[in-house]
Amino acid sequence: MLDVRDLRVTSNAGYPLVDGLSFTLNRGETLGIVGESGCGKSLTSLALMGLLPVGMSVSRHVEFESADLLKLAPAAMRDLRGDRLAMIFQDPMTSLNPALTVGYQIAEGLIRHRGCDRREAHEHSIELLRKVKLPAAERRFDEYPHQLSGGMRQRVMIAIALICQPALLIADEPTTALDVTVQAQILHLLGS
Ligand SMILES: Nc1ncnc2c1ncn2[C@@H]1O[C@H](COP(=O)(O)OP(=O)(O)OP(=O)(O)O)[C@@H](O)[C@H]1O
Ligand SMILES: [Mg+2]
Repeated sequence: MLDVRDLRVTSNAGYPLVDGLSFTLNRGETLGIVGESGCGKSLTSLALMGLLPVGMSVSRHVEFESADLLKLAPAAMRDLRGDRLAMIFQDPMTSLNPALTVGYQIAEGLIRHRGCDRREAHEHSIELLRKVKLPAAERRFDEYPHQLSGGMRQRVMIAIALICQPALLIADEPTTALDVTVQAQILHLLGS
């Protein structure tokens, strides 16, 4: 399903940040990427999502469901992102939009990719927020990211990534902000 060959991410100054990474992933498989801080795990994830910081370039070969991700037009990439391909980001504080309610940010995926109307999208989103154990999901739906705790924001990020049941989920340290029992629950949820 995913074939990454000789992935290179180059900084805007022209030096390599990820240099020659290759791996393949089949449907139903889980792959863990480990490495010291700063070795390029987050950049690898962002490169696959087409979300590298401005100025960085990426090269060689990334094939996902027989599409060449590195050659895909921006519009086609936007169709894929949040639908077949989703990511839980490492830092919920900078990845959520502070100007939109968390509910809006979750429901958006269903409206854009699944053609749901607002009411359906609302219903499914609340259901998922309950699954990721967000307390008082109904009320939190209409709140903004700054009104939530770090752990709650992380759960919202997870819900945004899961809402369209992606074929490939990239999780960049998805449970770092959560306590150990909740970590276990979330990992169980991601595995199911
Ligand atoms: N926006 C950026 N501009 C310039 N360099 C960056 C940027 N983001 C990351 N880097 C550099 O790229 C390298 C890889 O960073 P990355 O965030 O992928 O590391 P990581 O493996 O995810 O680390 P951690 O485990 O701490 O999250 C680091 O050396 C970092 O300094
Ligand atoms: Mg990282």
